[in-house]
Amino acid sequence: MTVVHWLRRLVRTNPMKIDCGTCRIRRWRSGDEPSLAENANNRAVWINLRDRFPHPYTLKDANDWVLHASGQTPLTNLAIEVDGQAVGGIGLVLNNDVERVSAEIGYWLGEPYWGRGVTTNAVRAVTEYGFATFELTRIFALPFGHNSASLRVLEKAGYGREGVLRRSAIKEGQVLDQIVYAVTDLEYD
Ligand SMILES: CC(C)(COP(=O)(O)OP(=O)(O)OC[C@H]1O[C@@H](n2cnc3c(N)ncnc32)[C@H](O)[C@@H]1OP(=O)(O)O)[C@@H](O)C(=O)NCCC(=O)NCCS
Repeated sequence: MTVVHWLRRLVRTNPMKIDCGTCRIRRWRSGDEPSLAENANNRAVWINLRDRFPHPYTLKDANDWVLHASGQTPLTNLAIEVDGQAVGGIGLVLNNDVERVSAEIGYWLGEPYWGRGVTTNAVRAVTEYGFATFELTRIFALPFGHNSASLRVLEKAGYGREGVLRRSAIKEGQVLDQIVYAVTDLEYD
């Protein structure tokens, strides 16, 4: 049985909890709000994310997010839990139309937990979940070119570097390159 087939069975029998060794991936739930706000309210996290991620990140932002994500169907936004606390987030944005077989993966982790391999394991787990659940052929990421930690995470998780979207984004007034990383179902099947 391949990993994807095994995961399909796991997803069917267990709605959503993946033990990824250094972390657990699960649905956002009521009670996560204080830990979410505490870990998300960090400029070092925000500076590498899209502007829709709030900054400063208030308890109200956390309440709104948990309300939205906890009841989501299909389930594409997940909490990264370490030591029993939701300390990061990881999700897939499903594309549409002829690109409905593609999804973008995005993630962040509270700074106290960086450098322990947590996100690498989370990206591996959610990549497998994505292929097993949504009939995708491709999952990609678009880290900023200077985000060395994220580039490394993607390499360690089996994503391949496909190119540079030169001067394709602007963050805090600075025009940035984004790097295209992707993995296909052919590598994961
Ligand atoms: C990027 C981020 C998710 C990484 O999480 P993490 O759990 O620390 O990642 P891991 O521990 O799994 O792996 C990090 C790797 O990057 C490396 N790294 C960290 N900082 C680095 C730097 N400045 N230069 C080069 N490599 C770096 C680590 O050494 C590690 O690689 P190694 O295992 O080969 O030593 C986290 O830093 C974060 O949340 N950043 C802010 C939000 C963000 O950037 N999200 C991604 C948007 S695309």
